[in-house]
Amino acid sequence: MKKNIALMRGDYSSPEIVAQAVRVLDKIAEKYGHEFVYTDIAMGGNAIDKYGDPFPDHELEKCLASDSVLLGAVGGPKWDHLPGDQRPEKGLLKMRGGMKLFANTRPAKIWPQLASASPLKEEIVAKGIDFVVLRELTGGIYFGEHRTEETECEGKTEKRSVDIMTYTEHEIERIGRVAFETAMKRGKKLCSVDKANVLDSSRLWRSVMHRVKEDYPEVEYSDMLVDNCAMQICRDPSQFDVIVTENMFGDILTDEASEITGSIGMVPSSSLGATTCGVYEPIHGSAPDLAGKDIINPIACILSAAMMLRYSFDMPAEADDIESAVSRVLDAGKRTADIMSEGMECLSCSGMGNAILAEL
Ligand SMILES: NC(=O)c1ccc[n+]([C@@H]2O[C@H](COP(=O)([O-])OP(=O)(O)OC[C@H]3O[C@@H](n4cnc5c(N)ncnc54)[C@H](O)[C@@H]3O)[C@@H](O)[C@H]2O)c1
Repeated sequence: MKKNIALMRGDYSSPEIVAQAVRVLDKIAEKYGHEFVYTDIAMGGNAIDKYGDPFPDHELEKCLASDSVLLGAVGGPKWDHLPGDQRPEKGLLKMRGGMKLFANTRPAKIWPQLASASPLKEEIVAKGIDFVVLRELTGGIYFGEHRTEETECEGKTEKRSVDIMTYTEHEIERIGRVAFETAMKRGKKLCSVDKANVLDSSRLWRSVMHRVKEDYPEVEYSDMLVDNCAMQICRDPSQFDVIVTENMFGDILTDEASEITGSIGMVPSSSLGATTCGVYEPIHGSAPDLAGKDIINPIACILSAAMMLRYSFDMPAEADDIESAVSRVLDAGKRTADIMSEGMECLSCSGMGNAILAEL
């Protein structure tokens, strides 16, 4: 299969991890008879340096014409003095909006070899943690009306703020379908999280999810209130396969879910819209403190490439191959500095790339 990949090498340490992910993708292409064609895209600080704009329209066009985007991370102190609308992060927002990415996915997976890094109790971790949280990314309270006004209360004037949460059936249905499709590619279990005991928008959310579930009889479906879900993620995360939820609940639950796995350098993510063209990136930033030292952990970026193969290119065997190569490298006691522990072998960023390639 031939696939065009838009490659955002990013800023500071980011090009070092993207380089390792490309080596892994090239090895997969060779092994399975695929052709991956890369187009370099300037976005973030590097685009500011090159074009004076964090994400020019012509770069967005190239992304839209690709089969998917692989991104490292952007930003750093070099551009921190710039006004808000000219900073690297503006490029990220323009990319998400321009590519209409409404579904963000973050896996929460504990690598048994790194179990001691989890803040959860040993007996909870021992049951296994391997689920994904799907967050609706372009609706809800973050995109509703916000205002602060003066109001009269008991003879005094005071301020009153309003943030409005809105969802349409269409917005709920499209994230619902992505969630069911994701569940079909994983363990066929979906939990939809809402606050239907209080919020109208959640009651609509729940009714639309129930309608969509009729099209996916193979998926074991459940509803859960968000406060209970936050607790269950800490008490028994092994019960989850796929969680789907609205924007603000997802913002909070995705951070909680990443945190229980213990290492920021290990967590990939994806953002998808109505098509299979998505953006795949590690959840961490550009790690300016590590730049140029060849010590950053490339695994989150390599696992982001694996997610791209699984969810955008329909290449599950190839994705499994990368994930099990990473697992075998960890089994062999090989670590980068951020996940190093006593008795293990500490590798550089490129050394970790070499070790994973050797397993493929
Ligand atoms: N999506 C993105 O592009 C994105 C996301 C988050 C932050 N950022 C940007 O990145 C820059 C740096 O942000 P920050 O320092 O707050 O967060 P960061 O994630 O870059 O770093 C936080 C800490 O974690 C360490 N770290 C991060 N990734 C690592 C890895 N793969 N291996 C080993 N250690 C790792 C760093 O060395 C640092 O000590 C900022 O400009 C920020 O805006 C970009």
